Amino acid sequence: MSFRELPHIKARPGDIAKNVIAVGDPGRVDLLSQLLEEKRVVNEHRGLKVVTGTYKGVKVSIATHGIGCPSAMIVFEELGILGARRFVRVGTTGGLRRDIRVGDVVVATGAGYTQGGCGLGQYMPGICGATSPHSVLTARIMESLSRNGVKFLAGPVYSSDAFYAEDPSFAERMSHLGFVAVEMEAAGLFALGWMRGWETAAVLVVSDVLPSEEKVFLTTAELADKFTSVARAVLDVFSEL
Ligand code: HPA
Repeated sequence: MSFRELPHIKARPGDIAKNVIAVGDPGRVDLLSQLLEEKRVVNEHRGLKVVTGTYKGVKVSIATHGIGCPSAMIVFEELGILGARRFVRVGTTGGLRRDIRVGDVVVATGAGYTQGGCGLGQYMPGICGATSPHSVLTARIMESLSRNGVKFLAGPVYSSDAFYAEDPSFAERMSHLGFVAVEMEAAGLFALGWMRGWETAAVLVVSDVLPSEEKVFLTTAELADKFTSVARAVLDVFSEL
């Protein structure tokens, strides 16, 4: 694609690494880019902050994807146009099972979504997308998490389009269907990955547990250490590839 500049990510070709960690919140780009050296901000347009630097000598971008598949898929598509080929979403998720605790880590082995939802109804009308992550990348990340002492649960997540529509029966219904946790972007990322030939994965920190008596969200500060440990494990994988 030839362009003068893209609509949302104003970085130039060469500014974006092949390896990307994608997060919802630009504040987390600031947090995680502390792990990088030689870093520079390559986009701030629309609040979609992207920082590119190096980790153990390997070029990495840490990018904001915003909330929900429509926002995230715009960012993934534009980062792809700019040269990204491996995307790991490091985000938060809501636990759907009673045995899950805030602060737990979930590695997504698949992502369900509502038929026609997640932006995918427009990409592939009538088709249920291939919403699994890249298996080898995911396996490497699981090994790296273990090496870095981060315990995790591996299982399918549900990519919701409506955070505030999750009524009290939602968790019971979804866990009964086999989903371990709910978030809002993995299905879009995984399907796009197979469409565009990228490797994708998602590692999620549980910020809230839906079936608990009183739903409490971990604060950004409370999540910071876990996010950093997860990102370090992902960056180690990037540096070994
Ligand atoms: N619902 C959807 N997405 C989420 C949640 C949730 O409870 N927690 C973190 N991401």
